[in-house]
Amino acid sequence: MIAPKENFAPSIIPATIEDYPTIQNMARFYVYEMTRTCGFISDDWHCPKDGLYESFDFKIYFEAPDRFPFIVKIGDELAGFVLINKVGVSPNTQWNMGEFFILAKFQDKDIAKQVANMIWQKFPGIWEVLVIPEMSYALKFWRKTINKFTSGHYTEDYKLVRFDRDQPNRFIFTFDTSFIKDKIPIKPVISKAETSHIDAMVSLSNAKRTSYEKAQPQFWRRADNAHEKQTEWFHTLLNQPDHILLVAEINNKIKGFIIGRLIPAPEVYNPGGLTLMIDDFCVAEPSMWQSIGVSLLSALKEQSKQKNVAQLLVVCGHHDEPKKTFLEKMDLSIASDWYVGKI
Ligand SMILES: CC(C)(COP(=O)(O)OP(=O)(O)OC[C@H]1O[C@@H](n2cnc3c(N)ncnc32)[C@H](O)[C@@H]1OP(=O)(O)O)[C@@H](O)C(=O)NCCC(=O)NCCS
Repeated sequence: MIAPKENFAPSIIPATIEDYPTIQNMARFYVYEMTRTCGFISDDWHCPKDGLYESFDFKIYFEAPDRFPFIVKIGDELAGFVLINKVGVSPNTQWNMGEFFILAKFQDKDIAKQVANMIWQKFPGIWEVLVIPEMSYALKFWRKTINKFTSGHYTEDYKLVRFDRDQPNRFIFTFDTSFIKDKIPIKPVISKAETSHIDAMVSLSNAKRTSYEKAQPQFWRRADNAHEKQTEWFHTLLNQPDHILLVAEINNKIKGFIIGRLIPAPEVYNPGGLTLMIDDFCVAEPSMWQSIGVSLLSALKEQSKQKNVAQLLVVCGHHDEPKKTFLEKMDLSIASDWYVGKI
């Protein structure tokens, strides 16, 4: 008998040290499931002589304060486990889906999706989910589930990792669940900047300038009247045909902005069209690059499509790791470094 999907409401229960043997027992089947696709990666995936698949020891999840083990249940029945840690490939990662397993009986019933959604709501912040490329079914599951949960606000990379000698490739999904409330991602509203937005844009820019000045006091040194000058400048740009100014709002509050300028390349270069130069690009919090930053940059790219733009050029402080990580995830690479010194 096949049970209909809508009959199941999973619960996720924080696991204690008493649950450690139970999770370790279920993990044998977790490994067994994974051998379907990973079985030929190396000898480590061979079935042991006694026929009992052996998993990694997950005890650390019950000992370390920054690890969070959960048992999944349907009613009173065991349905799987989830192990969360904070160890990411990127230094900005706050939560990592360490291990995730739904028992065979409960697979393909939307239970895994519900469990993942519950976990992302419980731990708001920047998430990483890593998938071994051989696990094509898990890859499809995560891509679909993350896409739905974030309404498309995620990045997907294919990278080499250091911790796995036999299969060092991973698909890496990154997304920010900070804005997610009651399962509905609060999407920023992106619109053309107007006069009424300028004060908020200048405030964001000021905050950025303060942190940049600390990192490089010579180059980013603030002028006495920076605030007034920038207000005046942004007002001027609103009416320039070669500039695109966009703002991102959440609940009617400006949480980020981007200014793109269309410029021709110097005559000795031919990138194939205009350059979209982005110097002023701010978000209210570093964690917002993955959400607000993605929305702003994507909207700006979309708007520049009809304008013979061949390339993007984004200015970013050398110290600004959250922004650098975000730009790399948006498939941008470093073309030039500027060195600054006093005369
Ligand atoms: C991977 C795993 C968690 C997926 O669980 P599941 O029970 O198939 O997932 P769900 O039924 O909740 O499916 C959620 C969505 O993903 C889709 N999906 C799941 N597997 C899919 C596949 N192979 N291809 C396409 N879509 C898939 C479902 O169609 C569903 O889509 P919907 O949102 O439109 O309804 C489960 O198979 C499992 O625990 N496997 C063993 C351990 C494992 O591989 N863990 C992952 C480690 S990275």
